[in-house]
Amino acid sequence: MTPLEARLRERIRRDGPLSFRDVMDAALYDPQHGYYTNLRGFGAEGDFITSPERHPAFGWLLGRQALDAWHALGEPSPFRILEVGGGSGALATSLLRCVRSEASEVVYTLDELSPSLRAVQQERLTDRAFRWDTTDAPAHFLIANEVADALPVHRGVVRTGHIHELLVSVDGDALTWLESDTPNPALDRYFGELHYAPPEGSIVDVCLDLDSWLRALIRRMDERSVALVLDYAASPPRDSLLTYYRHTLGSDPLIRLGEQDISAHVDLRTLVRLAIAQGVRAGATAQRGLLLNLGFQQIVEALPRMTDRQALAELADPDGLGGKIAVLFLIRGLPEYRPVGAVGGANWPEAVDVPSLPPSQAEQEFLDQWREAFSNPA
Ligand SMILES: C[S@@+](CC[C@H](N)C(=O)[O-])C[C@H]1O[C@@H](n2cnc3c(N)ncnc32)[C@H](O)[C@@H]1O
Repeated sequence: MTPLEARLRERIRRDGPLSFRDVMDAALYDPQHGYYTNLRGFGAEGDFITSPERHPAFGWLLGRQALDAWHALGEPSPFRILEVGGGSGALATSLLRCVRSEASEVVYTLDELSPSLRAVQQERLTDRAFRWDTTDAPAHFLIANEVADALPVHRGVVRTGHIHELLVSVDGDALTWLESDTPNPALDRYFGELHYAPPEGSIVDVCLDLDSWLRALIRRMDERSVALVLDYAASPPRDSLLTYYRHTLGSDPLIRLGEQDISAHVDLRTLVRLAIAQGVRAGATAQRGLLLNLGFQQIVEALPRMTDRQALAELADPDGLGGKIAVLFLIRGLPEYRPVGAVGGANWPEAVDVPSLPPSQAEQEFLDQWREAFSNPA
């Protein structure tokens, strides 16, 4: 039993069954035992891998979208960028590299909830553009990659057209689900606003925190600005909880509490509705479309090595990240603006200084043998 599970069991014994939202919140963000509180990175050493960790050209390509917004805004100086939930700082590194090719004065703020990841970012991101001050002025370009799927969700089951919450209780040695006798009015209201009735008996994972999260993001948008929210999407919400532990995908969020990642797909339709209600223009595409519009094919051709090609292919794969990750554009105060990442049509200049991956071990060994064969032609 993890230390966090012991604490939650104690709480359940004292106060009764807990909402799964509170269990997930503690599992990820408990100030002592939360998964993100103590995480130091993603990728090969961690539990899962995100797009900017797969290949640095991902962030570089998003830099083209940032520059497109910068031009539409009349090239403000400094150009203020805000990244929410910047993780290990991989996206920030390569996005700034691209932006700097045109915008010389950049202020790049990172808003990171996890103290351990903030420390990783501060070690890695040494450029003078980077800041961690959350009271900074509103930003011109904002980005949140795979952050909304790390917000805690309520879990419910549909009974005679109403959503009954699935609470977390203790049964002997294990934490278990306990169906509430009465419907949860907030969850019923959520689906009412969507004008959608989920199938009888189905399980739904619903993020009621989405509204306050989006409001906070919009508050940090300049009166004229563009924001991108990229995430695994499930609209309308369904059973979408996933766990990751050392690169193994699972679906039981009540085990390894505080030691495994938990995520739930994001209800894009609700995000769009909430954004429009706040007076912000909103539209969406898939990650594949975004990358192709930003000149993905040109980058693939500029990086001919096997290691790069494999990682890049995954980012735009229609059956993988390219199709599963949705990209939401939020546009404030630019009524005529059509983001290049959504509509395409740009003639990209020659791609210079595109970041690449170090060669894989197999590739390195092959290159070493090749070099050896030609330098010692005995
Ligand atoms: C799945 S990770 C993604 C990290 C990074 N964006 C990437 O793509 O590699 C989720 C990140 O969001 C952070 N996070 C979650 N909720 C947050 C919030 N409300 N404000 C700021 N950061 C948050 C987590 O600490 C973590 O760094």
